[in-house]
Amino acid sequence: MAGAASECAIRFVLNGTMRRVADRTPTTTLHAALRAEGLTGTKEGCAEGDCGACTVMVARPRGGRLDRRAVNACIMPLAMVHGAAVTTVEGLGGDHPVQREMVTRHASQCGFCTPGFVMSLAARPVGAPADRQALEDRLAGNLCRCTGYGPIVEAGTAAAADADALADEAADAALAAELGAIGPLDMSVAGQRAIAPREEAGFAAAVAEHPDATIISGATDVGLWITKRLFMPETAIFAGEVDALRTIAVEGDRLVVGAAVTNQALADAVAPHSAELAELLRRFGGLQVRNAGTVGGNIANGSPIGDLPPALIAAGATLTLGHADGARSMALEAFFVDYGRQDRRPGEYVRHVSVPLAGLRALSCHKVSKRFDSDITAVLGCFMVRVVDGRVAEARLAFGGMAGTPKRALAAEAALLEAPYTEAAVSEAARALEDDFSPLTDLRASAAYRLAVARNLLRRDFIERTQPGVATRLAGAAGAEVAA
Ligand code: FES
Ligand code: FES
Repeated sequence: MAGAASECAIRFVLNGTMRRVADRTPTTTLHAALRAEGLTGTKEGCAEGDCGACTVMVARPRGGRLDRRAVNACIMPLAMVHGAAVTTVEGLGGDHPVQREMVTRHASQCGFCTPGFVMSLAARPVGAPADRQALEDRLAGNLCRCTGYGPIVEAGTAAAADADALADEAADAALAAELGAIGPLDMSVAGQRAIAPREEAGFAAAVAEHPDATIISGATDVGLWITKRLFMPETAIFAGEVDALRTIAVEGDRLVVGAAVTNQALADAVAPHSAELAELLRRFGGLQVRNAGTVGGNIANGSPIGDLPPALIAAGATLTLGHADGARSMALEAFFVDYGRQDRRPGEYVRHVSVPLAGLRALSCHKVSKRFDSDITAVLGCFMVRVVDGRVAEARLAFGGMAGTPKRALAAEAALLEAPYTEAAVSEAARALEDDFSPLTDLRASAAYRLAVARNLLRRDFIERTQPGVATRLAGAAGAEVAA
């Protein structure tokens, strides 16, 4: 609640009971904290957000209602459930429709993955589709090594109506009010301080006062530092509950996306403007990762293989950085200075991105990875091409996986600009890619493969824009505005 007094302990509802935790370091993972409580139904397979064995349901108060999401407990710092309600598989009680159908349909063998599947299915919003495709998308972040997915998906479909019937709006509203009355977190324990403001002014002041603090938004990246490198920041400032950073809205002819907007919220909001970006986001980790990871986090970490920056750069996005003393804006591509180096000064934080709707409509996204779902990109090509009277009036070609940063292909763009939009011009742009990039060879792809793929993606994009009936994709339709 805006203006409420700070809390010096983590307060959250766990399986229906309000808890107050003052003796754990705030970046202890939720998974570790649950198991220490004896709630061992929540499993750990990978400790990095890939397998879903640790899936729990987290509900947050949003506008007087509860917003329930499946998330990965293994990479979620405990401080992030302050002011939320957590339900584990134990909290479902053993007779939830999903549990019943999983048993009836023999949807479990060794059972290690089963609590995670149950929680992903139980977190399905009331009335949400429960057909095969919808559940495959919902379960793409859950791995099962022995049962096979058929019975699991069938159990989810069969349970949907009975699960929906359990909804209790009045109880949800009462819980939302109870959670909403919890003040923002500011706690110190065992040499670690956690600050989780609700108001942007408080957030900006905290970042300015602690310029070396680790800013944590969805923790889908920092969570791995915690589990894999045993990282323990002295000061952690959490962005996820800052109201002003969670807003997403169309303002004039632009979509303005706050830094703490989750990737799933972006996918939902962007779908009417860009089926291509929505489809790219569908393959952006599993649903649990998209429910936690944020737009600002994907930008701020500066990863050369982050999937969002190339798409936003191609669409013409502007980035705004906030600071207690004022904000500044830049073209998004200017933020990425070099590998591991971004143009963020002490005390600054990623505030929002502003994306032209026209750029979104003309955007195409082409992700190449070894596995279709939930995999790290080898090469990502995102293109915005505007053709007027048969000539290229505007071309923004951005790539991920081709350099130490997300990067525009300026030489290839120059080869296209003002040229007739023909196969010959696209071939010239494809040739020019070697002037733009000297990609690396690593475990995901060789340099030669990356360059060949990048060239072929330009050609595929040309076919999709000029011959929309031609099948070019194994899954997901091409959906960029077709060139005029
Ligand atoms: Fe694998 Fe959490 S343990 S996603
Ligand atoms: Fe064994 Fe899924 S039942 S991993």
